[in-house]
Amino acid sequence: MADWCTLHLLQPDGTIATVATAAADPALEGALEELQRRYAPSQLGVSPGSRALRAGRPFLVSDVTHKWLARTAVDEAHLRLLERLGPRSTMGVPLIARGRIIGAMTFVSQTPRRRYDTASLALAEALARRCALAIDNAHLHAQTREALRARETFLSVASHELGGPLARLKLYTEVLQLAQSREDLDDALLKRALASIQRATSRLAGITQDLLDVARWQAGDLPLSPTRLDFRKLVRDVVRGYQDHVERRVLLKVARGRHTVIADAGRLEQVCENLLDNAFKYSPDGGDVYVEVRFEAGGVLLRVRDPGIGIPASAADMIFEPFGRAANAERRSVPGMGLGLYVCRSIVERHGGRVWAESPGEQQGSTLSVWLPGAPVRA
Ligand SMILES: Nc1ncnc2c1ncn2[C@@H]1O[C@H](COP(=O)(O)OP(=O)(O)OP(=O)(O)O)[C@@H](O)[C@H]1O
Ligand SMILES: [Mg+2]
Repeated sequence: MADWCTLHLLQPDGTIATVATAAADPALEGALEELQRRYAPSQLGVSPGSRALRAGRPFLVSDVTHKWLARTAVDEAHLRLLERLGPRSTMGVPLIARGRIIGAMTFVSQTPRRRYDTASLALAEALARRCALAIDNAHLHAQTREALRARETFLSVASHELGGPLARLKLYTEVLQLAQSREDLDDALLKRALASIQRATSRLAGITQDLLDVARWQAGDLPLSPTRLDFRKLVRDVVRGYQDHVERRVLLKVARGRHTVIADAGRLEQVCENLLDNAFKYSPDGGDVYVEVRFEAGGVLLRVRDPGIGIPASAADMIFEPFGRAANAERRSVPGMGLGLYVCRSIVERHGGRVWAESPGEQQGSTLSVWLPGAPVRA
């Protein structure tokens, strides 16, 4: 049917990837591979594949003339490469699955006797329909597998994380019951047990809140109540609240001036609390935590720096994914579900901002930053 053929698929980010090339003559493979590497179709391209992909309709050039090749080539080198491949006739057909354009196939004939016409186009379209169906099925299958994997991760992480505080609750209530039945429940024991029960219940509340948020987030159902607020004040209040119940120091540095943002106050507090929680949790050997707020690029920048275990470079992105945890945190058995930063990212992105992590390396501390766009100045 063709001397060479290529298959392109549209990627989630809008780019086009070459997923397969085939040439009847192995001697052509090098040139074909170079063509794909250097001149792969783009959304704006004029090659038959690009056009078919863009328009969702087949595109036929029965007679490839030198003039057509010269118009299609983006530069001299491209033209020479096309001449080497010597197309005589070509057609591009879109791959359409469930009403969506997912890619395109390009067929090229070098054989003067084989000129594509409407009959060849109909055949190519029939082939493309089958191909699109198979690719779509493979995608759906991969998505189902991914969903099952996510569910398994969720169940194992959630049950593991819930197990710790629940076991502590059980233990301390039993200790109290026993002490009371023996009539030796003294104040010191009562105080200690109640403090542990209190910590375990607030951990359980935190886990439940994160799980609920993630579920609602993924269902696209997390309403925000934005108001005009002073970001500086918000961070200062969260830090003060923190300072009251941790023994370690949180050093706050705030730039002067207006720091107005339009945001959901409760959700931004949640972001600050998550970052502070992590800063303490992942610096088990102590040390000060630095919090800084300043203007940057028309918005506000919050930076939380700790002297802790650091984040391996390879984990800098995945820790913002659901259940994403870095190997050094797992290795040290620091408790956590890997949801806090995902929740932060979801909140920050919903506000048009960004969140990212930097660390010079393991054991060298981490800095988590949040940038949010500033509110427009009122007239
Ligand atoms: N300040 C930090 N220093 C070192 N590693 C960090 C820091 N903050 C986050 N991490 C890494 O990022 C991962 C994800 O953080 P995240 O807050 O999402 O989850 P978690 O702390 O594990 O659990 P939780 O859902 O209870 O917050 C952590 O498991 C840890 O590996
Ligand atoms: Mg956390």
